[in-house]
Amino acid sequence: MPNRLDLPAGFRWGASTASYQIEGAVDEDGRGPSVWDVFAARPGATKGGQTGRIACDHYHRYGEDVALMRGLGLDGYRFSIAWPRVRPAGDGAVNPAGLAFYDRLVDELLAAGITPLPTLFHWDLPQALEERGGWLDRDTAYRFAEYTETVADRLGDRVPAWITLNEPFVHMVYGYALGIHAPGRTLMLDALPAAHHQLLAHGLAAAVLRERGREVLIANNLTPVRAASQSPADVAAAAAYDALHNRLFTDPLLLGHYPDLSAYGVAEDLGGCVRDGDLELIAGPGLDGLGVNYYNPTRIAAPTEPGLPFAEAPIDGVPRTAFDWPVVPDGLRELLTGLKARYGDALPPVTITENGCSVADEITPDGTVDDRFRIDYLAGHLDAVAQAVAEGVDVRGYFTWSLLDNYEWAEGFSQRFGLVHVDFETQRRTPKASYAWYRELITAHHALHVR
Ligand code: BGC
Ligand code: BGC
Repeated sequence: MPNRLDLPAGFRWGASTASYQIEGAVDEDGRGPSVWDVFAARPGATKGGQTGRIACDHYHRYGEDVALMRGLGLDGYRFSIAWPRVRPAGDGAVNPAGLAFYDRLVDELLAAGITPLPTLFHWDLPQALEERGGWLDRDTAYRFAEYTETVADRLGDRVPAWITLNEPFVHMVYGYALGIHAPGRTLMLDALPAAHHQLLAHGLAAAVLRERGREVLIANNLTPVRAASQSPADVAAAAAYDALHNRLFTDPLLLGHYPDLSAYGVAEDLGGCVRDGDLELIAGPGLDGLGVNYYNPTRIAAPTEPGLPFAEAPIDGVPRTAFDWPVVPDGLRELLTGLKARYGDALPPVTITENGCSVADEITPDGTVDDRFRIDYLAGHLDAVAQAVAEGVDVRGYFTWSLLDNYEWAEGFSQRFGLVHVDFETQRRTPKASYAWYRELITAHHALHVR
């Protein structure tokens, strides 16, 4: 069985973060408010009322954080750019101080030999745009393209590849359908325009980046969907869930059309928001890479109540993370080979843009963090990637979630995903055992495939 050291030469090792989860400094240097500042301030919206006001204070400590990345020997670093730092009101004036922060960060990364891989939108929409409808409003897609121009003109000379959006599925479902994340809307299926307008934004921004000769990726949250049984009702429910979670956000990009959502009573024009020409824009000339964020598979059964055409079924008999997510490394192999089977030659090279787990990590009296659970998680998932590669999937890199313990959205600081422990009182960083493990893996892989 191939294992992680068999990953091909040139395979890129990285780590990921996101602006609102680490930066803090929410009202410094002209940053405007984001939907997350507003949502997190609502009583009861997040665990313990916690917000990203300070988070990891990365805005001030990025030098120390890049030094930690250099210590790991990373090839690449995936971070996100906060739109409200760059254009505080969403459109209109550009904030030079906000752009200057990312300029410094990019230069610091390059000096450390690390290729920056920025994401343009990781959920922190300028609040001013939310007040005009947010992603329910088609206009937001055009504002995103303008913001992309601003950032690409400033950083594009040093940044070869860009990720447009992070997980439009999770943002639509958690933010607009269920109200668990910002902006806290509870629209259920009426949230679908937020899918289309995010994809349209991707298409418009992709054109801006391509004009400048840059590579374009998107980071989708994907999950292999397993039917709870082979009964026709369970199989149909699994197909319906797969269409919503996976196909809705990948078919238009790779195949140029939306999947069949008739199980939801929704036509292919997603309730009328799809206009002539939109699908051509979304697919464009194709992606340079598909970013895959994978955490766990999903098991689906037929619904027992009226409403949605599926019900989530438990996955038993496997380890679980602190978040209670099931740990199924082979699900990543299954996902990757399934993408290849589904899209064939239309599947661009894949980069794993997130994968990791939360652990209830504690610093021991001797000052170390023994996160063996995370090491096992990462090792198992990387072996699964190597197996998918051996089965013919072109996977170019792996970016673990996350470099640092950080602000886990509605869960506040209660879920630790980092290779580096962060004490949120003192901002002290302590590399965990997984940090040393990842460094050794990267060193060993680089040595096998002399660059
Ligand atoms: C899913 C993850 C997803 C998360 C969003 C979980 O239920 O399993 O894949 O990233 O929700 O916070
Ligand atoms: C998101 C991250 C998040 C991680 C763990 C993904 O859904 O992109 O922002 O922290 O999963 O929940």
